[in-house]
Amino acid sequence: MGRPGLLPLLLLSLQTCVPASWSLQCMLCGRIGKCQVEECARGQDLCRTTIMRIWEGGEELEVVERGCAHPEKSNRTMSYRTGMQIITLTETLCGTDLCNRPTPGRTSTFPRIQSRYLECVSCASSDLSCERGWDQSLQCRSPTEQCVEVVTHRSLEGETGSLRDENHTRGCGNLPGCPGPTGFHNNHTFHFLQCCNTTKCNGGPVLELQNLPLNGHQCYSCEGNSTHGCSSEEISLTACQGPMNQCLEATGTNELGNQSYTVRGCATSSWCQSLHVAEAFSLTLLNVSCCTGNGCNHPVLGHQPRMGGAPRPGPAHLSLMATLLITARLWGGTLLWT
Ligand SMILES: *[C@@H]1O[C@H](CO)[C@@H](O)[C@H](O)[C@H]1NC(C)=O
Ligand SMILES: *[C@@H]1O[C@H](CO)[C@@H](O)[C@H](O)[C@H]1NC(C)=O
Ligand SMILES: *[C@@H]1O[C@H](CO)[C@@H](O)[C@H](O)[C@H]1NC(C)=O
Ligand SMILES: *[C@@H]1O[C@H](CO)[C@@H](O)[C@H](O)[C@H]1NC(C)=O
Ligand SMILES: *[C@@H]1O[C@H](CO)[C@@H](O)[C@H](O)[C@H]1NC(C)=O
Ligand SMILES: *[C@@H]1O[C@H](CO)[C@@H](O)[C@H](O)[C@H]1NC(C)=O
Ligand SMILES: *[C@@H]1O[C@H](CO)[C@@H](O)[C@H](O)[C@H]1NC(C)=O
Repeated sequence: MGRPGLLPLLLLSLQTCVPASWSLQCMLCGRIGKCQVEECARGQDLCRTTIMRIWEGGEELEVVERGCAHPEKSNRTMSYRTGMQIITLTETLCGTDLCNRPTPGRTSTFPRIQSRYLECVSCASSDLSCERGWDQSLQCRSPTEQCVEVVTHRSLEGETGSLRDENHTRGCGNLPGCPGPTGFHNNHTFHFLQCCNTTKCNGGPVLELQNLPLNGHQCYSCEGNSTHGCSSEEISLTACQGPMNQCLEATGTNELGNQSYTVRGCATSSWCQSLHVAEAFSLTLLNVSCCTGNGCNHPVLGHQPRMGGAPRPGPAHLSLMATLLITARLWGGTLLWT
């Protein structure tokens, strides 16, 4: 199979007054395994390799996706149990042309269990083990992993509504939002991440929004466009809970095209950056701002936004997990139960 040259390609912008820019090339591979070279869009400065492994009774199944990624992304892993399976999600990033190309012949091996690594509680919503308190234990497979608790709860059936997330997941992970806690909530959505690093420290009752105490702040809440979801009749004040004491407002373009999609709610300050909102809600071209003060994220109040566009290091990050968990759920069902 002929492959395009591996030499870096210098793309000169034809527009006047715009400096010449490099455009990264990455391998773009779908879950079926078909690959092609992708010219990354401006601002996509990394190549990613996203691997899901499902391990059950000695059998291992691997699904790999490759493509371009935003520069804020960083390596991460997460593992958890559901039913008789252990699901491991890994995303690695690299920054040179075609650096994410498949290495033929390399056989993946499930990392040998090292008893000196952390032992965590694990459960997932896909087998209702979190909801029913059926905690199992999971030995972490990397010294960098902590015990994690991830909540990804959406009640709106949007464009991605057919792909169901795990509402709750506990297990081992090395996630940029750690240790947290970090999160966002409004009337329809609750995202939360917290991590700890002692044996089975992520046990106990599963974290539910209604169990987080009110923190005295109130923010406007909505999800949708100006006529469906975020119209003035649909915007309502939500009492903020737990550490989510900032009022967030974000507007961007959803997956389907150029509709102006808005999200409002209560957030931790770590959520006031475009990346988290972008990935959690599948939005691009985002404007994210946060403010402090009751109802300050109302559209007509003209608050002084604290723009969140500039990526800062060490951001909180549920968003990628949302993507990965959708993948896990989808592929677990498709590949293992046929
Ligand atoms: C990410 O993982 C890759 C492959 O394991 C490694 O080469 C790279 O250095 C890692 N990057 C960071 C920032 O840790
Ligand atoms: C996950 O949350 C959604 C929305 O609240 C709910 O409809 C669904 O039943 C939940 N799933 C599980 C397994 O609890
Ligand atoms: C949103 O929450 C508020 C207060 O919690 C409630 O009064 C309102 O009915 C909710 N709206 C929707 C659409 O669920
Ligand atoms: C464990 O977590 C605590 C609190 O987040 C942190 O201060 C400490 O450095 C962590 N220790 C290790 C070994 O990661
Ligand atoms: C808002 O979204 C709905 C579908 O969700 C669409 O029918 C409507 O035209 C959109 N309104 C605007 C102003 O874009
Ligand atoms: C986006 O806007 C352009 C021009 O305004 C229009 O031609 C196109 O159909 C729109 N796309 C979607 C998905 O709404
Ligand atoms: C974001 O906000 C700035 C200033 O408020 C505005 O100029 C820009 O058009 C907005 N971008 C988007 C994608 O809405």
